[in-house]
Amino acid sequence: VDELLAALRAVAEPTRLRIIALCLKGELTVSELVRITGQSQPRISRHLKLLTDAGLLERSREGTWVFYRMAQDGIGAPLAQHLSILLPDGDEILTRDRDRLAEVKRDRAEAAATYFRNNAAEWDHLRSLHVDQAVVEQVIRNLLPADKNASLLDIGTGTGHLLELLGPELGPCQGVDLSHEMLSVARANLDRAAAVNCRVRQADLRQLPFAASTFDIAAIHQVLHYVDDQALAISEAARVLKPGGKLLVVDLAPHKHEALRDEHKHRRLGFPDEEAAGWFIHAHLELKETVHLAGDPLTVSIWLAEKPEQLETGSATTGAQAAALH
Ligand SMILES: C[S@@+](CC[C@H](N)C(=O)[O-])C[C@H]1O[C@@H](n2cnc3c(N)ncnc32)[C@H](O)[C@@H]1O
Repeated sequence: VDELLAALRAVAEPTRLRIIALCLKGELTVSELVRITGQSQPRISRHLKLLTDAGLLERSREGTWVFYRMAQDGIGAPLAQHLSILLPDGDEILTRDRDRLAEVKRDRAEAAATYFRNNAAEWDHLRSLHVDQAVVEQVIRNLLPADKNASLLDIGTGTGHLLELLGPELGPCQGVDLSHEMLSVARANLDRAAAVNCRVRQADLRQLPFAASTFDIAAIHQVLHYVDDQALAISEAARVLKPGGKLLVVDLAPHKHEALRDEHKHRRLGFPDEEAAGWFIHAHLELKETVHLAGDPLTVSIWLAEKPEQLETGSATTGAQAAALH
């Protein structure tokens, strides 16, 4: 009861309730919360400390950025879900906060899109800055053995490199990406490689334009550190996987290279295994393999998860459902 009372006391204040309403829609940094609420940084930091101490929010520091997200354990998680139902729809301040949050997300997405627009031509070189790409590719081939009957969806395909790599060993392969410029490079690469079973189209990974249970394999290769809701991305990938289908996620292990934020527009500086495990649980996937490939200075993490056979079609959270949750 003490824990519940402390949590209730913490949210019983207008700005703190606004912060909770915002964090229910995804993790945010202090400066984003300052921009949205229009309050000073010391004030927001004090409110955030109170909410974190009361178990409603979790704080994680990554270099010079600190992210706040809804707590996953303890009284905070169920309390926040109840509050999300009770928050009044038409409230003027909450509506303005939501609009500003949308603005913040738009600006963020625009910065990333501009980066990819400007770097589409040289992305294949930039990718190899992480770890020897040949080593990563060998692990991927081992985890996803050749199967001419298996269909693949490469989410955030960029220049289509994974399609080129796996296309010759698989059945129909589809790549999606938000960036027209990246897709133009991908189309040229796939033409050159005569990858007739591979095609690409523009789509947002948060709302994939495919029916549930469409693909045998989905891959998300070096994409998640750009997006602001990894759990939603994984749930949406899980939705389009057939039962028994595999999801391959390749990204960076936690690191301290702040320059990747400034120069390459990364939002997150890698992901710990525990966080990745949380995405798969949320999406009703079973984590099968974790591989770390140590590089200098970055380590690449590879996670392979599977959609259980007995899972009924549509029981994984859909993009729209997950969006409603956030
Ligand atoms: C770092 S690149 C990786 C490309 C490719 N997977 C690879 O490893 O070479 C990240 C890609 O994700 C795409 N992307 C970012 N946000 C996206 C979204 N919401 N929906 C679809 N693609 C997105 C970008 O346009 C970019 O092409």
